[in-house]
Amino acid sequence: MSTRAPFMNTAYSGYYHREVPKETEELTHIGPDTPCGEYLRRFWQPVAYSDELTDLPKKLRILGEDLVIYRDFDGNVGLLELHCAHRGTSLEYGLVSQCGIRCCYHGWLFDRDGTILETPGEPADSTLKDRLFQGAYPIHEAYGLIFAYMGPPENIPHFPLFDSMIRPGYKIMPGQSYVYPCNWLQIAENALDPVHTSFLHTIVSGSQFTDEFGVIPELDYVETPAGVAYIGGRRVGNNVWTRTTEIVHPNMQQVGPIWETGKGVHPFDGPMMTRWIVPVDDESTMLIEIRHISEEDEVTPAWWADRGTMLPAQLPISDDTEEQQRQPGDYEAQVSQRPIAVHGMEHLGASDRGITTYRRQIRQGIQAVKEGKDPLGLSPGPDIPMPTFGHDAVTEAPPASTPEEDAELIRDIGRRLFDEYIADPPNLRHLK
Ligand code: FES
Ligand SMILES: [Fe+2]
Repeated sequence: MSTRAPFMNTAYSGYYHREVPKETEELTHIGPDTPCGEYLRRFWQPVAYSDELTDLPKKLRILGEDLVIYRDFDGNVGLLELHCAHRGTSLEYGLVSQCGIRCCYHGWLFDRDGTILETPGEPADSTLKDRLFQGAYPIHEAYGLIFAYMGPPENIPHFPLFDSMIRPGYKIMPGQSYVYPCNWLQIAENALDPVHTSFLHTIVSGSQFTDEFGVIPELDYVETPAGVAYIGGRRVGNNVWTRTTEIVHPNMQQVGPIWETGKGVHPFDGPMMTRWIVPVDDESTMLIEIRHISEEDEVTPAWWADRGTMLPAQLPISDDTEEQQRQPGDYEAQVSQRPIAVHGMEHLGASDRGITTYRRQIRQGIQAVKEGKDPLGLSPGPDIPMPTFGHDAVTEAPPASTPEEDAELIRDIGRRLFDEYIADPPNLRHLK
């Protein structure tokens, strides 16, 4: 089967376009021992919110692996293979214990690193428990999230410290998580797609953010120290509003405030949200977010500080198909790209440059892992802040005399600001 569908250059030629090429496995398949799966496993991945853990264990599926997560009475979180090492009973039915979790079937007790503490049905002199371990992964709790490292235990990376997490005047709160029934990559790529904020979120579905998003921005794309970002510039009266959404490798997005109107001049303001696009398996993905809330009055709207309120336009407006057709959002647009979007049927344009850059960077990361090197995006060391750039900024700049010159002015402002940010990352300035 060809990897690319033919480029159709005549009318009424659907007949020549019936075969759907296979997806790009290298970038989309994430199970154990796949190239991209190995790559993603080199990074700490959020798997749950801390407050999801109760007295009952929670079953999880992450990167195509079935797992159980729990917090024992000592307060320690364990992330274990779902199926008991004895005879396979699911530990979701296990008993959370003082230390570890006990299988419901024959009572084997597992500590969070997989150590088998007790095998009650075995003879007192049995050495089985001293020779065997339950599969387990290390975890790290931060920002109300539980992160897991699911790669080779000899390569555990430092937990990353993103500069957006230590901004003065901001606190971080957990948000919401939800699942899209499609592949992780097409969801992650959406962060590099500013045209959709104008078209899908404003022109098609009515202002899901603010009216000003309805102008298709002047676009540029930039590589950052740990990923890729777009710079989208829009004219708003005498102002130029520049907006940047970024991906930090491999699968973290940072998004500037969606309540921006471009009407009030202000410098770089940082992200409203950090969100990870975590594969459940090849055709199912969890989006899990934290929210950045200003401690100053009236900077962050109250709805965003209310965890019960969802970011708009992320999930279907209702269960009614007709309503979904009349007001589609990110879910409809991305899930309908097919369970795994087929790159061989795409026709990428100039506005997709962020996406092609991201795919190239992922390939480089996969190659680095294959060669035993560190992929882009790994933490440089304990507590060394990594610069990030998701934000909105509004600059006063009256319109140039022609639309073409104005477009160039808008792009110039975006590029100049971004060069300044790269040279002197704004979220790090307070540390000087
Ligand atoms: S199956 Fe878990 S203890 Fe026997
Ligand atoms: Fe969107």
